[in-house]
Amino acid sequence: MNGSLKEAIAVVTGGGAGIGRETCLKLSRMGARVVVSDIDKNNGEETAALIRTTGADAWFFPADVGSEDDVKKLAKAAAEHNGGIDVWVSNAGIGGTPKKLHKLTTEEWNHMMLLDLTSVFWSHKYAVPHMGKKGREGSIVNVASIAGLGGSPGLGPYAVAKAGVVSLTQTAALEMAKKNVRVNAVCPGWVQTKIIDFAGESVQAEMRKQIPIGRFGTPSEIASLIGFLASPESSFITGSVYRADGGIKT
Ligand SMILES: NC(=O)c1ccc[n+]([C@@H]2O[C@H](COP(=O)([O-])OP(=O)(O)OC[C@H]3O[C@@H](n4cnc5c(N)ncnc54)[C@H](O)[C@@H]3O)[C@@H](O)[C@H]2O)c1
Repeated sequence: MNGSLKEAIAVVTGGGAGIGRETCLKLSRMGARVVVSDIDKNNGEETAALIRTTGADAWFFPADVGSEDDVKKLAKAAAEHNGGIDVWVSNAGIGGTPKKLHKLTTEEWNHMMLLDLTSVFWSHKYAVPHMGKKGREGSIVNVASIAGLGGSPGLGPYAVAKAGVVSLTQTAALEMAKKNVRVNAVCPGWVQTKIIDFAGESVQAEMRKQIPIGRFGTPSEIASLIGFLASPESSFITGSVYRADGGIKT
């Protein structure tokens, strides 16, 4: 796949760490010029700097995906680099402390919906007008979760938000199918990033035992799938939802 995104402009939200950072590096190796976005300025700048040490183009653009205005500005700024956006990865998201649904406050519920679902709607809303033009195919990849594909006790709002991301992806793909923009979702299982820090070492050991492959995934294993869906290698695929979960089936 190296070179298959030559000269493409790719935006990755939450590109400062974890799956987002590995996705930025992967898309850059595939030839894309990457707009790294994150709420964390230091980490975001670091990802962009890491890419530039390879001689490739990368820029950091700070944005809080929970702010509609930030997402709008990010899309506009990214499109200015080369007259459009070719790839958009809605990756930024938060986990949260496990709690049963009936114990949640409305504020906790709304916060998760804002950062894990409405943020993806805003990304779609503001990216799409800059995509699929002048014969350049657009590809949007939304990062959902296997938590959104079934019941996830204790992770209620996260699971509901991610189920929403899956549904948004399926609808968006149909709406954009004739507009030269593909939209797909990836659903990671447990991946070794700071989002799973809520679980201490003994809980993590239990989690690992439930994964048939016997270990957590790595961010680069998720980035590989995102890279495939972002590239023309997957040109007949839209509205699809892919699991990368080490065999765990919830
Ligand atoms: N790690 C897992 O086990 C796992 C499993 C399934 C899905 N996911 C999803 O993968 C995505 C990436 O998670 P990760 O595991 O790499 O987590 P991570 O915590 O390592 O990285 C998340 C990144 O998003 C950024 N971010 C957080 N809030 C933001 C905001 N409001 N605006 C902009 N950036 C923000 C953080 O600064 C960080 O750089 C998330 O959508 C997450 O729900 C992760």
